This record gives sequence, C-alpha cells and structure tokens, in this order.
Amino acid sequence: MRTVRVGPPPRGLAATLRVPGDKSIAHRALLLGAIAEGTTTVRGFPGGGDVLSTLGAMRALGARIERADDAVRIEGLRLGNGGLVAIDCGNSGTTMRLTAGLVAGGPGTVVLDGDASLRRRPMERVAAPLRAMGAAVETTEGHAPVTVRGATLGAIDWTLPVPSAQVKSAILLAGLSARGTTRVREPLASRDHTERLLGHLGVRLGRAAGSIEVEGGQRLIGAAVPLPGDVSSAAFLVVAALVVPGSELCLPEVGVNPTRTGALAILRRMGAPIEVVDTHDVAGEPRGELRVRAARLHATTVTPAEVPGAIDELPILCIAAALAEGETTITGAGELRVKESDRIAALEQLRLLGVGVTATADGLVIRGTGGRRFRSGRVESHGDHRVAMAFGVAGLAADGGVEVVDAGSAEVSFPGFFARLAELGAAVEGV
Ligand code: S3P
Repeated sequence: MRTVRVGPPPRGLAATLRVPGDKSIAHRALLLGAIAEGTTTVRGFPGGGDVLSTLGAMRALGARIERADDAVRIEGLRLGNGGLVAIDCGNSGTTMRLTAGLVAGGPGTVVLDGDASLRRRPMERVAAPLRAMGAAVETTEGHAPVTVRGATLGAIDWTLPVPSAQVKSAILLAGLSARGTTRVREPLASRDHTERLLGHLGVRLGRAAGSIEVEGGQRLIGAAVPLPGDVSSAAFLVVAALVVPGSELCLPEVGVNPTRTGALAILRRMGAPIEVVDTHDVAGEPRGELRVRAARLHATTVTPAEVPGAIDELPILCIAAALAEGETTITGAGELRVKESDRIAALEQLRLLGVGVTATADGLVIRGTGGRRFRSGRVESHGDHRVAMAFGVAGLAADGGVEVVDAGSAEVSFPGFFARLAELGAAVEGV
C-alpha cells in the first residue's frame, strides 16, 4: 500500500492543464458501443482502473475492443453466447450495476463480482427492478457477487427510491431489450449521460420533468464519442487552486453537463472565483474551459436537493469547507455512506488535521479554520480514490503536509493524480 505525503508548494499553482476524460461517459460509451451496430470510437479515454473494468467486462461478453493511447474502438455485436460469463468489476460500481442491466435481456448467465469495497455496496437497488422486468437476479445478501440470468424482459414503470444514475441507467439499458416502453422516474435529477449518449447513438427517448422513457427493440448505431474532461477530476484541481494562495489554473475542455456541475455552484456560493468560458456542445455533451484562482472562502449549507449534482465532489468540497470561514452543513447525503468507502466516516479524519467535524447520519458539519492552515497528520484513504485525492489536496494547505495511506486508490479515476500535484509544484513524496 503506497503512502504519499503532500505538502504545501512554495508558490501558487499556475498552469493550463487537461484533466482525464470523463469516466462516467467512458463507461457508457463502452457499454453502448458493445451493443451498437458498427464501430464506436472513443477519444480522450481516461484509462484508470474503473473504465478498464468496464472494458474487460465488455470483452468478456465478446465485444471486440482495441485500445491505442487515448483512443478505444469498439465493434458492437450481440452480447454473450448463451453460456456462463464471470466478470470482475474491480472497484467499479458503475461497471457492476450498468452491466447487470445490459445483460438482463439475455442470453446466458453473468456473474458479477468485485473487490472488497465493491462487495460491501448495495446491489438490491438494481436487482429489484431487473427482477420486476423478468430477469432472474441473485445477490449475495444484497451484495456482490451478483448473478444475472438473462430472460425475455417486459417493460416496467419504476420510481427510484434514491436518486441514482447507475440504477436509472441499468433500467434503461435493460429497457432497450424489453417488450414495451420502460419508464424510470427519479425524485431528483441524477447525471443524464446515458440518456444523452443513447440519443447520440440514434435511440429515441421520451424525456419529461422527473422521468425518462425508452421503447424496447431500438437499434443503436455506432458513432464517434469524443470525451470531455471529467469535471469530477477537475474539482480536485479547482479546490487545490482555491486553497493555495497565489494560484491560477485554467482547465480547458471540461464537461459542464448541468447534472454534474453542482459542486461548482456550491463553491461559487462560498466565494470561489470560478469562470466557465468557451462553452460548446460536442457529441451531445457541453464542455467549456474552467478558470479558477485562489480565494478566501466562507461556509455554506448544502441542501439534500443539491446532493445528486455534487455527489462525487462532496469529499473535496469538505476540504474547501474545512478552510472556509464559518460552519458548513451538508444534509441529505446518506448515499456517501455506501460509496467506495463510508465517505462520511472517512471525512471525519479531518479532525486529525485540527478541523472541527461532526458526522451525522446523512451528512457532516464542518467548522472551517477561516484560512488557517491544517495541522500535519496521517489519514487513511480506505481504498477510496476520492478520499485519497481529497486529503492529498488538504496536504497543500497543511503545515508539515498530510500523509495519505493507500494513496494508490486514486488511480481508479485519475491516473497520475499525485504526480500531477508534484508537477504543479506541491511537495509530494512517495509517488
Ligand atoms: C455514477 C453515478 C453515481 C456516482 C458514481 C458514478 C455513474 O453513483 O456517484 O461515481 O456513472 O452513473 P449513483 O448512481 O450510485 O448515485
């Protein structure tokens, strides 16, 4: 397990740099490319453990996939041969839940498993709707391994109990091979990359406020899928720039899909000077250049309605809140407890850096230092990429730095993250 120590840089971070391609869209391009007619070509493929899990999953199901640098070519075909396929989803919940939906229409049986973290995450939320459509799905007491026996599916009308783009997507993917029109209703909007990419590949969807419909039996046509930079990865650099005095970063071509930019809005409310310029659409997804410079931040309240649009950025938002003036409250974020780790518990480690933190059942209260640097400390990533990176950024504002145990977990979404911090001038040991 690799331990990395990150300390403050001697001067502000100043650069124009690209962040890895969007992980959420990359997963979907692989999954949909695998069932599309013809060729789908992904550019800006981020690499990273999670998307490689999906790539391996699609290959295991028989799709022909070639990868050269940041380009991936997928030749779509009818998935599975009717036999038994075992798939290792690694650390990736998106791989497991979306693949379950993709294969629910058969043929054959697919067993989905993953690492210790993935085996702790809830899978009934996806098993239940797929069963309602007619697939035989078994979980292991609600968890992986998950066995999906494909079947002829019927459409359902499903209301998500918690907003989840993964569950919504799994149902829509199953709906593609179901008889009739499948409808998913969501209480709060979650990321809509599946809907946008389905449209890009020629599928007609019905979209109304709070619901999406797809008619089964439609063909997908392969296409070029150029990926924007991942705004979730960008968020770590944005906060890095905010907390290191004198910083100014420019991040071109970052995805700014409105279902993903909640954290930018929250940071702006905290006083962050973040600009998005040159916004334009490519392949159905908006992208733009993020510009940010260091600033003093003040506390805010993150409401339950804001959580889905900022869910993956809450760990790094907590680092920003920990340096802000005043008390920040996050509520309605119980989902953080079932991510790659229990992120609420993991973020309580801010206390080790001298920050006042109270964890609640579904959120956190953070008493910011008002700009005073953190105390030096040693924290555990709990094998969670976003926890590792969040505390790495905290190190930029800690006298004596922060030691992150098992920092290698960052590789699942942002390959080379700590090396990138070092290139920007941070004092990084152990990369
Ligand atoms: C994702 C959806 C979200 C998010 C995850 C990626 C996706 O999970 O936290 O990192 O690509 O669909 P949930 O669907 O569990 O909210």
